[in-house]
Amino acid sequence: MRIWITTLLLSAMLPLVAVAADKARKDDRNAQAFAVMQASFVAKGQAGMDRLVQDKTQAACSLYAPGMPPDALAATLLEDNRNRVKYPADGNYLGDWKRGQAVAEEGRGKQSSDDPAEPSGGNCYACHQLDPQQIAYGTIGPSLYRYGKLRGNSEPVLKLAWGMLNDMKGYILCSAMPRFGGKDILTEQQLKDVMALLFDPDSPVNQ
Ligand code: HEC
Repeated sequence: MRIWITTLLLSAMLPLVAVAADKARKDDRNAQAFAVMQASFVAKGQAGMDRLVQDKTQAACSLYAPGMPPDALAATLLEDNRNRVKYPADGNYLGDWKRGQAVAEEGRGKQSSDDPAEPSGGNCYACHQLDPQQIAYGTIGPSLYRYGKLRGNSEPVLKLAWGMLNDMKGYILCSAMPRFGGKDILTEQQLKDVMALLFDPDSPVNQ
């Protein structure tokens, strides 16, 4: 009887042991990856060693990859990221779609070889289809063709798109999309111009 109970208790604990072992293995894997990056990353120009420092969201996404952080942690991180989104002071989300097109096409900025005094691009076509006239585009992200035409431009729709452009990790925690506002890649004006590319009825995205 006693043996039976002990066996039962032990087997009940096995999943816990497995979870702890899995976490230790991932911690170790991440520590090794970090050490390799520390040893091989060459700091140059604006791309300093600080580029290797992960914030809480990035660290959690790395730790639990290819899965997701546990629900409670994920909820806290999502809320933190969403709360940091800055909305336009004048309440106006839309700039000029022509300038937005230039931002979407521009892939330079933030690299060691780029001039930090120049504005960065959004490189949207690297991951998304937008203007169908642009035949070269990546497919990591969904097609944004007819984005505004399909959704209209009510306040909640614009607000959500603004939030996602600012920091997708406030909506999809381990998203691969760059955090254009959250990580100071694009200025408020550039974000408004890109929003116009997505929503202006005259934008080639909505034809
Ligand atoms: C490195 C790839 C990448 C780049 C660059 C990128 N995105 Fe994304 N984007 C994604 C992914 C992936 C998603 C889908 C959400 C997810 O799974 O993370 C997404 C989703 C979106 C969405 C939400 C789509 C929906 O279903 O409502 C919008 C809007 C968007 N991106 C706009 C842009 C714009 C504008 C730019 C350029 C300023 C841009 N993205 C640059 C990867 C990228």
